[in-house]
Amino acid sequence: MFGHFVSVYASFSHSFAIDALNILATKRSEIVLDPYAGAGTTLGAANELGLPSIGLDLSPFSVALAKLRFSTAPHQNSFDKVLSSRNPNPSLNAFSSETASLFNDSDLALIASLIPKEGMDQQRNWLRSIFSTSESQLDDSAYVLLCAIIAANKSAKVTTGSNPVWIRKLLAGEPSRDTKLEILTNTFAEMLRSLNIRHGAPLPQARLADARSMPIETDSVDIAIFSPPYLNRLDYFVSNYPANMVLCDLSGIDAETTRKEMIGTTKIVSKDVSPYPIGEYCKSLLNEIWNHSSKASKSYYYWNYVDYIRSTYEVSAELRRVMKANGRGAIVIQDSFYKELRVLTHQIVLESLVAHGFRCNVTRRETVKGHMGRMSPRQTKYATEKTLYEYVLEFSYS
Ligand SMILES: C[S@@+](CC[C@H](N)C(=O)[O-])C[C@H]1O[C@@H](n2cnc3c(N)ncnc32)[C@H](O)[C@@H]1O
Repeated sequence: MFGHFVSVYASFSHSFAIDALNILATKRSEIVLDPYAGAGTTLGAANELGLPSIGLDLSPFSVALAKLRFSTAPHQNSFDKVLSSRNPNPSLNAFSSETASLFNDSDLALIASLIPKEGMDQQRNWLRSIFSTSESQLDDSAYVLLCAIIAANKSAKVTTGSNPVWIRKLLAGEPSRDTKLEILTNTFAEMLRSLNIRHGAPLPQARLADARSMPIETDSVDIAIFSPPYLNRLDYFVSNYPANMVLCDLSGIDAETTRKEMIGTTKIVSKDVSPYPIGEYCKSLLNEIWNHSSKASKSYYYWNYVDYIRSTYEVSAELRRVMKANGRGAIVIQDSFYKELRVLTHQIVLESLVAHGFRCNVTRRETVKGHMGRMSPRQTKYATEKTLYEYVLEFSYS
């Protein structure tokens, strides 16, 4: 949908979200939530069906993209006007040395020149407020700036990494792409214009927030449709690293902290056990990992899984808080492997929901065709014997 500008793993299709909403929604006023909104598949479907929706994500990139998708694009003339009336003497001070190492100076200068005047004095608060507002429409200058930042993914000095959805910095001597950020920005905006939003229907609200502490009123959500991060150590920050770094710099968000807060990555946040009484499957999984003979099982992996389980329970507690008494939803999730051990990720989610008073059951299981292990050249050999399954869970509170 976004060409090569972005690397997003949507995890379910637009038609899945439409079907799920058609089954779950009973009134057009019902509020839909996706606490892991990514590029906004659920939000797009809710908009198409005329339902109000809220999407949260911890990746600044995802939120910027979702905001662009669901904001009316400025007319070409206004777009060009913002591009041509930009600050002639932009300062590169806002960018960290890490960010600077990812771009040519001219590209960073283009981005800096688009920061609107009101943003110059209070630059960080300005972008932060865009991330945290529930207002959907972006003003023209914010729209053009966010387009340039996302397009910058394609002009950055990076290439495909070992994991198919990650990227890495170019090595010395490796050729870089010769692309003009201004042209890329326009092309990306053109692509966004071709996406249909349903005007007249409530526009989705996309916000930068942690699913473990949702900025959402208690008892306000009717339906939740989402796909949590799987336990495959995917780092969603890295998959769109250049744009994420620029967005972090300009909004004063600490990139490392954000990466640590993301669920399901390689970073262990703390070695605390879950504050919740965890279910039987979670207990036995942790037990198997603790007793596994492979290196680092006790010192690292066990804690990585503890962290995932705790986070999953925290999100379910938040769902319980924000959802109405007749709240219901659907979840898509794939299982994974720890060495030779199959990890039933859906069972972790199911137990966490049941622990918080939801009813939850598996409604579908399908074989995953193009899973990460298969796509990764390094893991092909390792992954061929392993079939992964994708599960659809349905849950309700009543
Ligand atoms: C499997 S993807 C969901 C993709 C989404 N369905 C779509 O249409 O693009 C999981 C998402 O969870 C986000 N995420 C990871 N940890 C999070 C957290 N603690 N709070 C909110 N979002 C988080 C990631 O940035 C990623 O976008």
